[in-house]
Amino acid sequence: MKKHVKNNVCWVGKVDWELRMFHGNEFSTHRGSTYNSYLIQEEKTVLIDTVWAPFAEEFVENLAGEIDLQKIDFIIANHGEVDHSGALPALMKRIPDKPIYCTANAVKSLKGQYHQDWNFQVVKTGDKIDVGNGKALVFVEMPMLHWPDSMATYLTGDNILFSNDAFGQHLATEKLFNDQVDQCELYEESIKYFANILTPFNPMLRKKLDEVTALNLPIEMIATSHGVIWRDNPAQIIEKYAQWANDYQENQITIIYDTMWNGTKTLAEKIAEGIALADQDVVVKVCNLAKSDENDVITEVFKSKAAIVGSPTISRSILHSVAGFIHLMKELRFKGKKAAAFGCYGWSGESVKVINELMKDAGFTVVGDGYRNMWNPDADAQKAAVEFGKTLAEM
Ligand code: FEO
Repeated sequence: MKKHVKNNVCWVGKVDWELRMFHGNEFSTHRGSTYNSYLIQEEKTVLIDTVWAPFAEEFVENLAGEIDLQKIDFIIANHGEVDHSGALPALMKRIPDKPIYCTANAVKSLKGQYHQDWNFQVVKTGDKIDVGNGKALVFVEMPMLHWPDSMATYLTGDNILFSNDAFGQHLATEKLFNDQVDQCELYEESIKYFANILTPFNPMLRKKLDEVTALNLPIEMIATSHGVIWRDNPAQIIEKYAQWANDYQENQITIIYDTMWNGTKTLAEKIAEGIALADQDVVVKVCNLAKSDENDVITEVFKSKAAIVGSPTISRSILHSVAGFIHLMKELRFKGKKAAAFGCYGWSGESVKVINELMKDAGFTVVGDGYRNMWNPDADAQKAAVEFGKTLAEM
């Protein structure tokens, strides 16, 4: 169903209430998502982005119910990823000759995915197309925000920045605007999205934010491709991105572990006690990887100044859940965060050493040698774990 955004701009996307995992199984979406597509009806009729492939037929039928598809003058593909381009094959069957404006990299991505020779028109930063009534669309390439092909499109006159993935959130809602939804949910989904998707590209993001700010464009709305449109103080999310892109951390320490017979779990809890005793202000979070959502834990690490990682020793190494999670942290290229290791063992006891090496390789500054305990922690070992926590807090 079409929803009015501003003047002659409408939302024609899809709300996906059921989505629980995104990017295959890589990103949890507890609150669903939306795939935002926008229709501009000035003297020219323009469609910006489409929806994910499973909703392609529904999308095209709905769009055809709103306008004669032949009246679309051109399509803008801000990004080639399938959640935004997925309805192009169905749409282009109906209007095969209409131009698709996108970056040179998006041509590669769209051809690579759909193997169609559509009427691609390559645009670069600063290129402009008049849409009539004194308004124009201006393109801004956004490489690595978050794919090499990403771009944003700015509509002059209405002062809307169609930012695609940047500034988005996986949040299913019938509401269209940021001031109409629960502000805590909006913040949680925005920071989770940034932490899990955009963190590796921080240096490029900082540069791009400076570039966009220097353009001095009046931005009245940021119309993202997921979640709500920022219309109430849209600068707030740009300011947040500037903070988050600057090796962000809060006064938080996150303890991450997995356990076999609860020995390492006991250490995790005692270390947390020790940190809290030594520092009344620091926020301490304890996450068992086997029972937590890994994208939520990544968000906790994103907010932390240190990650304390624990695993028992198994086969002279660590549990695969912990190894996999350290790999995920490495992919995200966190900067300026400290780390320490702990774990129980019964025989050879390599886990702490293995974690220290992996965390160093993942870009963390490892403090101390870690804490390891043979067999189940008794009262003395638990006391020692509390002391270890206190030492970490001081470090
Ligand atoms: Fe929402 Fe990069 O796709």
